[in-house]
Order: sequence, then C-alpha cells, then structure tokens
Amino acid sequence: MKAADMYKVDGYGAIVTGGASGIGLGFAEVLAENGARVTVLDVNRDGLDRETKRLRDKGWDVRGMTVDVTDHAALDRAFDETAGLYGRLDVCFANAGIDPGIGFVSIDRTRRVPEGAIENYDDARWNRVIELNLNGVFATIRAAARHMKPRRSGRIVVTTSMAAMEIEAGIGAAYMAAKAGAAHLMRNAALELAKYQITVNAIAPGWTITNIGAGWMQDKKVQDEVGQWVPLRRVASTEDLKGLALFLASPASSYITGAQIVVDGGCQLGNVFD
Ligand SMILES: NC(=O)c1ccc[n+]([C@@H]2O[C@H](COP(=O)([O-])OP(=O)(O)OC[C@H]3O[C@@H](n4cnc5c(N)ncnc54)[C@H](O)[C@@H]3O)[C@@H](O)[C@H]2O)c1
Repeated sequence: MKAADMYKVDGYGAIVTGGASGIGLGFAEVLAENGARVTVLDVNRDGLDRETKRLRDKGWDVRGMTVDVTDHAALDRAFDETAGLYGRLDVCFANAGIDPGIGFVSIDRTRRVPEGAIENYDDARWNRVIELNLNGVFATIRAAARHMKPRRSGRIVVTTSMAAMEIEAGIGAAYMAAKAGAAHLMRNAALELAKYQITVNAIAPGWTITNIGAGWMQDKKVQDEVGQWVPLRRVASTEDLKGLALFLASPASSYITGAQIVVDGGCQLGNVFD
C-alpha cells in the first residue's frame, strides 16, 4: 500500500467535540479536507455557525450541532443522530475542554498566586473542570463506543495535555487531575475496546495558540515569551497537530492503541536557556 493510501479517511463519519475553535477546529479541518464527513459538537453556537460555514464553503462535508458535553443525554442524542445520518461512526475526537485560568503560581512560575492556592480552591471551580474535562471525555468515549462496538471498528482520540504528565503550576489543580484522569481513562477504554478493533489514543498538546483561557495565547508578546520555555523555541499552532490527528484517525495507526502522543515542541525533555 502506498503511504498516502494509509492516511485515507474518505467517506468516514467523524465527530469532534469542542470543534468550533482551536485544536478541535484543526481536527475537524484535517478530517474534512481529507474526505471525511464531520459533525462538530460545541456550546458556542456563533463559532459553530461561522466555522462550519467556512469549511462547507471549501466544499467539505461539515455540520455543527450545539451540544454541551456535560449534558450526557444531549451528547448521546447527537451521537445517535450523527451515526444515523452517516450510517457509520468511524472516528471520534473527545476534545472539548476548558482551562480554569489560575494556579498556585503565575503562568511564568515566578510568584505565588494566593487565589489559586489549594486552601482557596473552591468546589464550584473544581467540579466544573472535572465535569467538563474528565466526565465529558467519559461520556464522549461511552457514546462513541456504543456506535463503534457493533461495527467492530473505530478510532477514538482524546485531547489530553502535557498537564496529564507534569504539573503546569500556573493552570490549577483540577486541570491536572482531569487531564491525568482522561489519559488513564483512555488507557482503560483502549484495553477494553481492543478486542472490537476500536483503537483509543490521546494527543497531548503543549502550549498551543487557541482561544483557551480567554484567548491569552493570541497575544504575540505572550507567544514569544512562552515560546522561550519550549526547546523548539516556539509555541504550536493548531496546524502542528493535524498530521498526528489524521494519522490516529486513519488506517496508518491501526496497530496503535492506548498511546498518549506528546506534541509539545520538546517540553517533556526539560529545557536549556542558552
Ligand atoms: N491550547 C493549549 O495550549 C492546550 C494545551 C493542551 C491541551 N489543550 C486541550 O485542547 C482542548 C481544546 O482546547 P483549545 O486550546 O483548542 O481551546 P479553545 O477554547 O480554542 O477551544 C475549545 C472549544 O471547546 C468548546 N467547549 C467548551 N466547553 C464546552 C462544552 N461544555 N461542550 C462542548 N464544547 C465546549 C469551546 O466553545 C471551544 O470551541 C482542550 O481539551 C484543552 O484542555 C489545549
């Protein structure tokens, strides 16, 4: 088989959660550009309308549904409707997530932030992040498995983070727990579903320019500063994640399951500041 043929997703039915912006939008783009039929689930109705129209205008098969991943019944209905429409569900990206905004130190880790300290971390904030970034991933994997298992095929990809493996102290405790939990949940699902030829993997991005955290990474000055913390000396754009997304969605990755693949410009290695 020619290498290019291994990456074919033509005609696949795909769902991407949190795909109206940022990393999820990049996943939707690369799938649709390569011939998949893509349904984007997101809470941001304006963003969904704008981005799905933009992609349809390119001639790609993309639709949007306003769905909150914390509403598990609505999520199930969206999966049922989409799988019914396509007659198949081949690929699911469990990507929707939020960044709670503050940790116990500033984002550059140079000073303590009392509001982010554990003794001041309130239940509402903790529960919101776990509800979305962990429970939402659980509900998404469950909904996908219900459609993929009878067909004995499928690809599930979870967006985790560098924070699944090391503490990003400027972001906050619940995000660390949710992302580490999502990574291990991915492994549990991978083992359980392997017998049914469903692979479950994770993409763990590093610092990526998106609208997360009120869009703080959109600022060029921030990009330059954060880029210096990265061995490759730049932050990622969503383009940097597309190749891996297509790989994990396509036949090219058919013998890979339970893997968390890091796309972080080398941050896991540590850094030298020469
Ligand atoms: N940007 C980074 O540096 C970075 C790094 C590591 C991991 N991530 C992860 O990447 C994923 C995508 O984040 P992003 O950076 O692209 O952010 P983003 O804010 O640009 O996009 C997130 C999307 O998720 C949607 N969303 C939020 N809550 C939702 C809900 N309850 N139901 C459905 N959709 C919802 C938002 O409307 C938005 O369209 C998240 O899981 C995030 O934790 C981001």
